[in-house]
Amino acid sequence: MSTALVCYYSKTGNTEKMAIRIAEALRKNGLAADLKKVESMDASDLLKYDCLVFGSPTYYGTMAWPLKKLLDESVTFHGKLKGRVGGAFASSGNIAGGNETTVLDILNALLIHGMVVQGQSRGDHYGPVAIGRPDERSVKSCERYAANLAALTKKLFP
Ligand SMILES: Cc1cc2nc3c(=O)[nH]c(=O)nc-3n(C[C@H](O)[C@H](O)[C@H](O)COP(=O)(O)O)c2cc1C
Repeated sequence: MSTALVCYYSKTGNTEKMAIRIAEALRKNGLAADLKKVESMDASDLLKYDCLVFGSPTYYGTMAWPLKKLLDESVTFHGKLKGRVGGAFASSGNIAGGNETTVLDILNALLIHGMVVQGQSRGDHYGPVAIGRPDERSVKSCERYAANLAALTKKLFP
């Protein structure tokens, strides 16, 4: 079975709610998905997965430092994630508060790792976003995103 990781940082629970929905939907769509807080991870754990999805609250328009720290530590095996499926999601406080720039900053790191990143033709184009606590629209976006990532992962890692 193809494997996936949903790794997130969340201080007040909003990003965590998105992470839970994404992990559940990945499982529903046939992946063996682990859900982990970024603080509990060692960067080398990332090597175990076919699909890696990272979530963060928006802090000053970008990802929170614990996630940035993990990604920076992954330089020790730079190149080894080449070809794996990557994704990102974010929760911000405000509508134009930088959730998309947060998602794009995470995806930037994944692209530099050589990972495969899929955009979304409908809804949240770069990856799911929420304003604070995820509402019904955001939950649906998380579920649709996870279904797309699962389909791609199963294709690349049957
Ligand atoms: C240090 C800090 C910086 C923040 N910066 C932004 C920001 O630039 N734009 C924004 O819309 N919200 C900002 N917020 C609000 C959080 O992104 C928002 O409350 C988010 O839903 C928190 O997610 P969490 O519950 O997963 O911790 C900031 C919050 C903190 C604590």
